[in-house]
Amino acid sequence: MRILSARDESVAACRAAAGRGTLGFVPTMGSLHDGHLALVTRARAECDSVAASIFVNPLQFGPHEDFDAYPRDEARDAELCDRAGVDLLLLLQRDEMYPPGFATTVTQAGHLTGVLEGAERPGHFDGVLTVVAKLFGIVGPSTAYFGRKDYQQTVVVRRMIADLELPIELVVVDTVRESDGLARSSRNAYLGPELRPAALSLVAALTEVERRFEAGERDAAALAGVLSAIVQEGTGGRLDYAQIVDADLGTPRTAQAGQVAVVAARVGPARLLDNHVLGRPLGPFA
Ligand code: PAF
Repeated sequence: MRILSARDESVAACRAAAGRGTLGFVPTMGSLHDGHLALVTRARAECDSVAASIFVNPLQFGPHEDFDAYPRDEARDAELCDRAGVDLLLLLQRDEMYPPGFATTVTQAGHLTGVLEGAERPGHFDGVLTVVAKLFGIVGPSTAYFGRKDYQQTVVVRRMIADLELPIELVVVDTVRESDGLARSSRNAYLGPELRPAALSLVAALTEVERRFEAGERDAAALAGVLSAIVQEGTGGRLDYAQIVDADLGTPRTAQAGQVAVVAARVGPARLLDNHVLGRPLGPFA
């Protein structure tokens, strides 16, 4: 694996790899876990070369969010990338990504960035899209791999790729869970054992929603109500949202397979997101 810490050599190495065949790209903010490694494994299986990036992007954190506290361990992450089969690892610093004079950002207007995470974290998706567009420009991948755990992120990135005619295929990889069902997330590092039961209320609620859906419940508001009630109780009222959404993040009246139950809540210092595609198996967990 080659580690690239300068912008120019990153561009040159990625162009060379893209010239030899397909190039898969896994953008990350580091603190890698099995969810990230599943993206690399998929890219490795599907592409001739694999690039990954680690960059904790200041633009996507709000002023009172956890940018400074966000877990960072580049040496461990580099070793995990190497073992998982990454060919090119971009470790660009802030002044390489946003040099003096940097002035252009990506803004996505409308509903997709205004609801759910967008409503809770104003400006978050503009920060995500700006860094993703920039990384796409540096890497020039044929395929980019994103995790379904950040479901809304996959929707807004897909929209940007379509709107800007970027010649990149987006592959969304299923959420990886721990044995008790907790969705893998770098922010799980904030959870002590005492917070585990509250954190697990998210997957417990999604499991119950799927059980009711399989039993024939099709009232989307009723399913969202179940999701909300279980997470409210489990987290002591720290639910941010619980909804059933379609592929355009609309809120249908009638639930259908393929729509997504989305939930976000605060557990101790962590803000946890999870989701489940209706009609697919979920659990049982240990
Ligand atoms: O999902 C993430 O880790 C980040 O939002 C991403 C896509 C790497 C952009 O910083």
